[in-house]
Order: sequence, then C-alpha cells, then structure tokens
Amino acid sequence: MKKALSLLTVSAMAVSMLTGCGSSNTTATTAAPAATEAAATEAAATEAAAPAETTAATEAAAAATEAAAATGDVDLSDKKVGVCIYQFSDNFMTLFRNELQSYLESLGFKAENISIVDGANDQATQTNQIQNFITSGVDVLIINPVNSSSAATITDMVTEANIPLVYINREPDAQEEERWKADNMNVTYVGCDARQSGTMQGEIVLDLENKGDINGDGKVSYIMIEGDPENVDAQYRTEFSVKALTDAGVEVECLDDQVGNWDQAQAQSLVANSLAQHGKDIEVVFCNNDAMALGALQAIEAAGETVGTDVYLLGVDALQEACDNVKSGKQTGTVFNDHISQSHSAADAAVKYLTGEGNDHYIGCDYVKVTTANVDDILASLG
Ligand code: GAL
Repeated sequence: MKKALSLLTVSAMAVSMLTGCGSSNTTATTAAPAATEAAATEAAATEAAAPAETTAATEAAAAATEAAAATGDVDLSDKKVGVCIYQFSDNFMTLFRNELQSYLESLGFKAENISIVDGANDQATQTNQIQNFITSGVDVLIINPVNSSSAATITDMVTEANIPLVYINREPDAQEEERWKADNMNVTYVGCDARQSGTMQGEIVLDLENKGDINGDGKVSYIMIEGDPENVDAQYRTEFSVKALTDAGVEVECLDDQVGNWDQAQAQSLVANSLAQHGKDIEVVFCNNDAMALGALQAIEAAGETVGTDVYLLGVDALQEACDNVKSGKQTGTVFNDHISQSHSAADAAVKYLTGEGNDHYIGCDYVKVTTANVDDILASLG
C-alpha cells in the first residue's frame, strides 16, 4: 500500500512538471529517483549551509586517510577498475573523471589498471563497453549511466558476473535502489540530492534585495534552461528552484522553458531566442548547470544586457569559469556540485567492495551555495 501511494505521488509530480511553464517542451517521463523518498529538501538545505571550506578539501583529505586505512591487507595495485562516463565532452563529468582517476591512483591502483571509457551519450555504446569490461575481468565497475532508466539492465549484467558496482552522478529510480537492498547486491549510488541544488538557486534569488523582481511589478519573470530531461538533476533543479520562490510567497511568471541538454552552445542559442522574444521582461535566467549559464551569459552580453542590473543569472556546478564570473558579477550565483567529494566517495566505495567491507546502497553529499560572499573560498577549494 505504501509503495502504491508513493508511486501515485511520483506520477503526480511528473504531470506537474509537464505543465510547469506554458511554452515548456519538457518531457519528463521517467520515474523519480530514490531521493524522492529521502529526507525533506529543507532539512538538507539547512545542513548544507556549512561553510565551503569545511567541505571539499578537508573532507577529501579525511576520506583519503580513511580509505587508505580501509584497504588493510588488500593489494590494490593489481586490481582492475572499469569506469563508464556517459559523455566525455560534458564539462562537469570531465572534472569528475579526472579527479576520480588521480584519487584512485593515490589509493594505490596502477594507472594501467584504471580504464575510463566514453559512452558518447549513447546507451548501446555504453552497454557494449560494460560487456567488454565484464569479459576482460575487471574487479569493480564505476558507472555514470547514459540513461538512468537502463540501470536495472546494467545492474543485472554486472551482478550476474559477480562484479561490485558503484553508480555515480545519474541516480537510478527508487524501485531499482530498493532491489539492491532487498537482494543484498553489491551495488551503491554516490551522488547529491538534486532538489537541494534547485532550492539553493531559488534561495540565492530570494537573498537579493529585490528578491529577483528587477522591474518592481510584483512578480519574478524567469526563463528556465534545462539539462537532459531524462536526468533527475534536470527535473529537480527545474522544479525546486522555482518552488523555493513560491514557497517564500514570491509570485513567479515563467516566460520560457527550454531544454539545453547541459550544453553551452545550445543554451546560448536558446537564451538568445528568448531574449529576442521577451527582452528586458526576463528578470531571472535559471540554468540547470554552469555550462549552460556560460552560454546564457554570451547571449545576454550579445543582447547588450548586464547581469546584476538587467537580469540575474544562476547555474549549478561551480565550474572555475562560472566562479570567476560570480566574482566579477557576470553571474549572480551558482551551486557547488562537489565533484571532489563525489569522486572520492565513489573510489572509496569501490575499495570497500574489494576489501569485503561493503557499502550502504546510497552515499550522499551536500551542495553548497556560491555567491560573491564565499566564491573565493570555493575557488580555493577547487585548487
Ligand atoms: C549534473 C551536472 C551537469 C551534468 C550532468 C550530467 O549533475 O550538474 O553539469 O554534468 O550532471 O548528468
């Protein structure tokens, strides 16, 4: 009964996302992730208010020490790790995979035993890569799925071969995660709760003196540039950024809602179109990630507008370039998607499978709001 009720909630949410903005072309049809049933976003957001400097660097150092201790007698130098990334050209996943590679090496894995492959945003390609890893006898797999909805098939392939599996970044749905627990599988997910990042984007707007209402007409008129809508990060950031405003009693008006697939060039052209149509009526540009915020900024500048005066611009990830823009006022804010702690947690989880210690089936992390107030700390922690 409880399960049926929660599934109903999920479908209601999917429908409401479809009707988010009049001109939305969002087609969110996948099931909500396990995080739907996790603790309330508000609670998570409060916890995440911890200062930036207490996150990345400090936690990373502690995790490295812990993981090194956890390896015990297991010699990692002859262990083979297969890593599947959904698409190498994705900026954020590039930071993630580079950090993952160097952290795995720092734990004692040999560079030649770490194989990282590009799924080129094609599930069939990635499924072949996973099959090849299984055939070649890797000891553990770390997978950033192209389609989260393919997780059940991937899990079956990998667990039938008796290989432990760590999913990263793209969260499988609740039903899939429940199965890992019920069947006691050596499978876990490492990632953050995307609702928190959306909420934080909204809170950054709420913290502005005019709460985003630049023209003083009593409502915040925004456009939304979404990542790949199959991906829960896009679904939740779209929903929760606006929800933070409406929950605070702020009236909103959605002028446009388009899918930019996490991509700078696509976002640039979408925002250019939107500006041509709505001009200065647009007060806030919400982008589901920083790559798209960089594209949005190009369009905003090309239209002769200035961030901070004519329009506010929000992203997620805390890419170096976006942080530089926050510092110089060209981007209102971003949300740090901690690739350092996520990649380290993923590697640590892989090690814990190899040592036999095992893992919980969900390993979370917190996002951090980034504004001019703390951008220097974030830049310092990015190294
Ligand atoms: C998100 C990240 C995006 C993109 C996406 C890929 O967490 O914010 O920039 O990398 O993952 O699934």
